[in-house]
Amino acid sequence: MTEMLVPTELLTGIAEMDGQHDRLFQEMLQVKNALLAVSDDDAHGLALLSRLADDLVRHYAWEEAAARRYGVPFADHAREHARMAAFVQAKIDEIERGVCNIPALMVFMERKFESHVAHFDLQLGLALQAARAARDAA
Ligand SMILES: [Fe+2]
Ligand SMILES: [Fe+2]
Repeated sequence: MTEMLVPTELLTGIAEMDGQHDRLFQEMLQVKNALLAVSDDDAHGLALLSRLADDLVRHYAWEEAAARRYGVPFADHAREHARMAAFVQAKIDEIERGVCNIPALMVFMERKFESHVAHFDLQLGLALQAARAARDAA
């Protein structure tokens, strides 16, 4: 088994969600490595970045569906997802126009993602655990 990239303090206790977060951290690392590699060809890095953007959107949809399924309030969390998705898309556009500082972007993205997990997803994890426990006890 490969080592998880998600820091322990960011584990939500919901296996599906932690697995998705880990995959997103792996993808961020891949994007960073590809875009930072000295090469005349950014196409590979850009392809990885746009895959990351797609997977982020899919992940957000999963969290939203899980919250809805268990009646967990999600409006603020969804707003934050929308903000992050728009940010990533804007950066992809900038990279395509050649006006983006890629190393700074990747450091920023990782921090933003970590802080999102810490401020929103950990709470969602607790709410989902409580809702599942209540369901199982019923
Ligand atoms: Fe998440
Ligand atoms: Fe989230």
